[in-house]
Amino acid sequence: MHKISLLDINDLEEAYEIEASTNPSPWSFDNFKSSFEVGHHGLVCKEDGKMLGFLIFSPIKPEAHLLSIAVLKTQQSKGIGLLLIKYMRSQCKAMGISKVFLEVRISNEKAIAFYQKFGFEKDAIREKYYSGDYPEDALLMSLNL
Ligand SMILES: CC(C)(COP(=O)(O)OP(=O)(O)OC[C@H]1O[C@@H](n2cnc3c(N)ncnc32)[C@H](O)[C@@H]1OP(=O)(O)O)[C@@H](O)C(=O)NCCC(=O)NCCS
Repeated sequence: MHKISLLDINDLEEAYEIEASTNPSPWSFDNFKSSFEVGHHGLVCKEDGKMLGFLIFSPIKPEAHLLSIAVLKTQQSKGIGLLLIKYMRSQCKAMGISKVFLEVRISNEKAIAFYQKFGFEKDAIREKYYSGDYPEDALLMSLNL
């Protein structure tokens, strides 16, 4: 059975491994540590103690920024992403947040379809947002709560 809990410092390594196996330009382990240290909020989905997916967001009232979400490749398209995002929405509502925004690679059709399924709308394109080995434009999306 899937269990959702708050991301703990002991979860960082496993979250980093999922990130590294699903994202073409992943956060480094140090990015995960810094994110945790500055107080970003994280949620994890586990089954029998094994992490299947995670989500990290930064709430700055009245908005929140969805910073990262990833589900193990073998566990994708089973509703885990949706479960994580529903918990984030509940937490945001409880914190008095009225809008969630995010950036996604313009070529990441699967993630865009996923966000749209949840009600996120396409707002704008941010050119050359992603740099490094895989430079790309970002699609900005937002969801009113
Ligand atoms: C994007 C991601 C987090 C979605 O998580 P998931 O657990 O696979 O998604 P879910 O199973 O909860 O899917 C929910 C809905 O999203 C949409 N969706 C999911 N996978 C899809 C696919 N391959 N193609 C099109 N739509 C898809 C569907 O509408 C789906 O609803 P349905 O199952 O009723 O059809 C996951 O695929 C992932 O980790 N991708 C790699 C990392 C990534 O791209 N992160 C986003 C960076 S911005």
